Amino acid sequence: MNLRFAPAGALSGQLRAPADKSISHRAALLGAMSSEPVPIERYLHAADTTSTLEAVRALGALVEVRGDDLILRGCGLREAHEPGRAIDVGNAGTLLRLLPGWLAAQEGRSFTLDGDESIRRRPVDRIAEPLRLMGADLQAREGRFAPLEVHGRRLRAIDYELEVASAQVKSCILLAALAADGTTTVLEPGRSRDHTERMLLRAGVTIGRSEGRLTVVNADELLLERVSVPGDPSSAAFMVAAGVLVPGSRLLIGDVGVNWTRTGFLRILRRMQGIVLGDLEQQAEGLSAEEPVSDLDVAHGALEGTTVEADEVPLAIDELPLVALLGCFAEGETIVRGAQELRLKESDRIAGVVEGLRGLGGEIEATEDGFAVRGHGGLRGGTIDARGDHRMAMMGAIAGLASRDGVEVVGMEAAAVSYPGFVEDLEGLVS
Ligand code: S3P
Repeated sequence: MNLRFAPAGALSGQLRAPADKSISHRAALLGAMSSEPVPIERYLHAADTTSTLEAVRALGALVEVRGDDLILRGCGLREAHEPGRAIDVGNAGTLLRLLPGWLAAQEGRSFTLDGDESIRRRPVDRIAEPLRLMGADLQAREGRFAPLEVHGRRLRAIDYELEVASAQVKSCILLAALAADGTTTVLEPGRSRDHTERMLLRAGVTIGRSEGRLTVVNADELLLERVSVPGDPSSAAFMVAAGVLVPGSRLLIGDVGVNWTRTGFLRILRRMQGIVLGDLEQQAEGLSAEEPVSDLDVAHGALEGTTVEADEVPLAIDELPLVALLGCFAEGETIVRGAQELRLKESDRIAGVVEGLRGLGGEIEATEDGFAVRGHGGLRGGTIDARGDHRMAMMGAIAGLASRDGVEVVGMEAAAVSYPGFVEDLEGLVS
């Protein structure tokens, strides 16, 4: 589906960002691993998180949908059923990387995970390595791609040092550690989103963090009272960017998750002199069980270029395409370094962002591990191909509203992976 986004007059109004995708995936998985029913308030009903519900159903969990809420009746930490067919993860990389952590510990049972064409290009070797060290038996196509076969075994605890800061790989190990013998430690080279740790803490698991090292003790069972899913800061980021870029705009975005590990984009934006007010969580070394929320008050204003270094990358990983877009409107240069992970997302986001924004009149160069943008005070417009990637599609739409001539996005339907009401929400803000 191609959609054209015309230059907009001032955007104004209030909206609520859709529910958080990362937290919804984790709520469904931990709910399925729990011994007692778990009510989940405001689950994200989007393509990726629906794949997770289908997966946990196939593994024996009962999912009762009550409007935006769910009740998940799980099968228990060690009691996943063998589905008798491949589990379809669709386009969901997070599901592909987290679920094997649980399944690897299901002794004597076998599972196959497969997904769409894009998922079949996304590597699983980074989760296979630690799981094998724990004693799991896994086979991937060409050693690193889906379909991925997981044969459950009795697992042992490990001490593992992650090569890159990845919440997906970290979470996979933490889930496997729950049913392993002993205490597992994971050393992170940098901070990444910590929703799994927070939810495990709430589920009664003994888990802690100190000096970059996570320690998790195996558990008999998970007992999660309820999960309330906040608005997704990565989805809200598109609206924030629209508010900052379109002259005269003023937006209020309600109930956004402001966990420190997810607000890197807002810190980058503030450094660029973007106007965004909100009660953001402060950095803390230890673990908190809460997922804080805040309203965000956003206004248009002039931007300055900035540099994003490697340690900030995992804290803004899904928003880096938007940093490139903001860079096109900022005074001076905007540089992102240490972001080679972007090449392994739903599409190669370095190539996609650079070619896409150049096609709209941006002056942007790809580097091996990021990009450099020279701001020209705006974009002309044109056509951009989403390459089947939801974040590219939404970036193209925001570029259109802020451009001089408008932007046609090829493949706008990709947005449904994380934000099904995106176009309607934008229309609601255009005066
Ligand atoms: C996610 C972690 C990030 C992010 C992805 C969601 C998660 O990936 O890009 O969209 O929910 O754990 P990495 O862990 O590969 O950085």
